[in-house]
Amino acid sequence: MTTIDTDPDTGLDPLEFAVTRNLAAKSAAERDAILASPGFGQSFTDHMVDICWSVRGGWHRPRVSPYGPISLDPAAAVLHYGQEIFEGIKAYRHADGSVHTFRPDQNGRRLQRSARRLALPELPVPYFLQSLKELIAVDGAWVPSGEDQSLYLRPFMFAKEAFLGVRPAHKVAYYLIASPAGAYFKGGVQPVSIWLSEDYSRAGKGGTGAAKTGGNYAASLLPQSEAYENECDQVVFLDQDRNVEELGGMNVVFVYKDGTIVTPQSDSILEGITRDSLLQLARDRGHHVEGRNVSLTEWREGVASGDIVEVFACGTAAVVTPIGTLKGRDFIDEQPSGTLALELREELTNIQYGRAEDKHGWLYRLDA
Ligand SMILES: Cc1ncc(COP(=O)(O)O)c(C=O)c1O
Repeated sequence: MTTIDTDPDTGLDPLEFAVTRNLAAKSAAERDAILASPGFGQSFTDHMVDICWSVRGGWHRPRVSPYGPISLDPAAAVLHYGQEIFEGIKAYRHADGSVHTFRPDQNGRRLQRSARRLALPELPVPYFLQSLKELIAVDGAWVPSGEDQSLYLRPFMFAKEAFLGVRPAHKVAYYLIASPAGAYFKGGVQPVSIWLSEDYSRAGKGGTGAAKTGGNYAASLLPQSEAYENECDQVVFLDQDRNVEELGGMNVVFVYKDGTIVTPQSDSILEGITRDSLLQLARDRGHHVEGRNVSLTEWREGVASGDIVEVFACGTAAVVTPIGTLKGRDFIDEQPSGTLALELREELTNIQYGRAEDKHGWLYRLDA
């Protein structure tokens, strides 16, 4: 196991992970063939991490084991009531071969917030960080070194108790799996077209919009299909007052002509770590940043008048994507194109890949 000291903030001792090596692990040649063109979410590393939780025993039985199917009782609560949460975070290989991730404490805390909303137990952040290190200790060779490539880490937690009563489960599992990811955009960043979802919402007031839980994504699939039918790449959701929320899997940011940057903020939006980081980089450049409601009218009129000079989406998977078009049932608005989104993208990825100074202390080394 990797050596981690007692956490000074929580006083928690590190977990003792039982490691079972995968005897059928891919050969170096098989792995290299996958890493040459990994795509997204298609291939998985040789191992996975899991930690059990029960009302009586708390967090226990931390393991690293061969990647493979999970055996679940058909009555497991997650299969019926969707008590489930997850995270998405990447590991980057730097030029010297070392492996780092980006602001994992933020993902650990967001997993805790999601857990609270879904009535799941909160995994202590030191355990979350340790789980990432444990997986990299056995599967570090899966972190690709090509341009814009990464190892996508997918922590998740679900209710595994076999019980059909509707209440928070007494038995829960936390897992971590990893999947090599290629460059999101082949041949340079392309603006995306966005479909405005008028008939379906993603989240409601007091709902689970701010949590990273499967149900939010399930609710986004039908409107996402509607987006495809309308020849759009992604879908944007509004709240009940016709304020802009976010895309199915990315936050939205507006740049105004006086340099002000505005992003929708409410308790029905997932607080993106990419967005928070980009906005910090923008503040470092002297931009004024506001988190507030942005109505659809403000968006459309701002673009028409020239007040809004750039609109982009951001998230871990694609980092930053300029929005090229907003399409509704009876309109198509071309969006203005600017340079800030791509400049901030470059600045952020330079930090993530170790090509620029990490002034905010955002990197966290996983292989030491
Ligand atoms: C619904 C949603 N909004 C926003 C984001 C962006 O969050 P982050 O920047 O932490 O990846 C994500 C995940 O990528 C998401 O799934």
